[in-house]
Amino acid sequence: MKMITENDLKILFDSKTIQDKVQQIGLKLNQEYKNEELYLICVLKGSVMFTVDLSKHLKMPLRMEFIRLSSYGSGFSSTGKVNAVDISLPDLNDKNVLIVEDIIDTGHTAKFLVDFINHNFKTKTLKFCSLLDKKIKREVKIDPDYYGFEIDDKFLVGYGLDYDGYYRNLPYIGYVEVL
Ligand code: IMP
Ligand code: MG
Repeated sequence: MKMITENDLKILFDSKTIQDKVQQIGLKLNQEYKNEELYLICVLKGSVMFTVDLSKHLKMPLRMEFIRLSSYGSGFSSTGKVNAVDISLPDLNDKNVLIVEDIIDTGHTAKFLVDFINHNFKTKTLKFCSLLDKKIKREVKIDPDYYGFEIDDKFLVGYGLDYDGYYRNLPYIGYVEVL
């Protein structure tokens, strides 16, 4: 595998662009869940930055859960297989639940999670929020109720997204051309 460095990255969304978008989504959620309680489900590891930043804009009584799934190997493309590394959740019956993801690519991860929650709980509402949506890569039918940016088929890193575990800490989102 070719090692990529920060110099190989082109910036797609800078920090300010991301933060403005996160705030906009937060405002919409404050409308949607006005006078309601909400459970945010952060899908680790990729969604950590987005979930934390988003949560700071939210005004309703909020509880946050962190689960860990993985679908990527160490390369550039989705395997389509989902690993439930740690998916322990509290009782979500009759709760408003919002799954927060960094990116929907093939959609397998999102579908797995929605099916898992629907199979185990009768939630009051279950919605899906993803910062990024790679609609063009979808293999299963699933659309986020909220998303930040629609993107084309680029491999992105930064703001939680990784390449071989690296670059999650970058405050911006960048891409590398797939060789
Ligand atoms: P899906 O199951 O194919 O929709 O893949 C979703 C997961 O793959 C995301 O939660 C990410 O962790 C990872 N992923 C998808 N696209 C990218 C990318 O461009 N960069 C880094 N990780 C990605
Ligand atoms: Mg993810």
